[in-house]
Amino acid sequence: MKNVLLINSSITGDNSVSRQLASELVEHLAAQSSIALVERDFAQQEIPHLDGARLGALFTDEAERSPEQVAAVSFADTLVAELLAADALIITLPMYNFSIPSMLKAWVDHIARAGVTFQYTDTGPVGLLEGKKVYLVSALGGKHAAGGTDFMRPYMQLLMNFIGISDVHFVSAEGLSMGEEARSVGLAEARAQIASL
Ligand SMILES: Cc1cc2nc3c(=O)[nH]c(=O)nc-3n(C[C@H](O)[C@H](O)[C@H](O)COP(=O)(O)O)c2cc1C
Repeated sequence: MKNVLLINSSITGDNSVSRQLASELVEHLAAQSSIALVERDFAQQEIPHLDGARLGALFTDEAERSPEQVAAVSFADTLVAELLAADALIITLPMYNFSIPSMLKAWVDHIARAGVTFQYTDTGPVGLLEGKKVYLVSALGGKHAAGGTDFMRPYMQLLMNFIGISDVHFVSAEGLSMGEEARSVGLAEARAQIASL
C-alpha cells in the first residue's frame, strides 16, 4: 500500500482542470498498485499564510506557547506529518499570474522546515526527504516556456529538489484559454502524459 498525498491548489472547485487531471492520475496510479489517499483541498479549506505570529510560534519553546501558538504549530506540524508520511505527492499547479496559487505558496512555507525537510550545511542546503516521488499536474490558460513566462514549473521543481525529492514527473495541460481546438489538444497531451506514467 502506497501513501499518496494529493494537494489540490486550484480555487475553482469542480471547474478546475488540474483537479480533474489529478483525479484521473489518482485512478491511473490506483490501477497499478493499491494506494491510501490523503487530500488537501484549498478550495474547501483555506490555508493561512505563514505570518509573523505563526513563525514566532515555531520559534517559541513548547512549554511557553500560548493556546494560539499551540494551535498554529499543531496546524503546521500536521502539514509536515502528511508530507513525511507520503510515498508520493500529487500537487496541482493551476497557473495564476505566471506562478503558483498563493495558497500553495503558503503550504510550501509551512512544510519547508529547517532540520525536518531540509537543512543547511557548510556546502549548501540538503534535502532531508528520501525515496519520495512527486507528480506536478499543471493547467495553463496559455503556453509558457521555462526561462520565459513560466515561473511555476521551474519553481516547483527547484522546491521539490530542495527538500530532497528528485523523482519529479510533470503532467501539463497548456493553451486551455486559447480556443476550443487548443484546449482539446492541451487536454489530450496531458492525458497522454498520465497514460505514460
Ligand atoms: C487568477 C487567475 C490568474 C491566471 N493567470 C494566468 C496566467 O498568468 N497565465 C496563463 O496562461 N493562464 C492564467 N490563468 C488561466 C489558468 O491558468 C487556467 O484557467 C487553468 O485552467 C487554471 O487551472 P484550474 O482549471 O485547475 O483552476 C489564470 C486564471 C486565474 C483564475
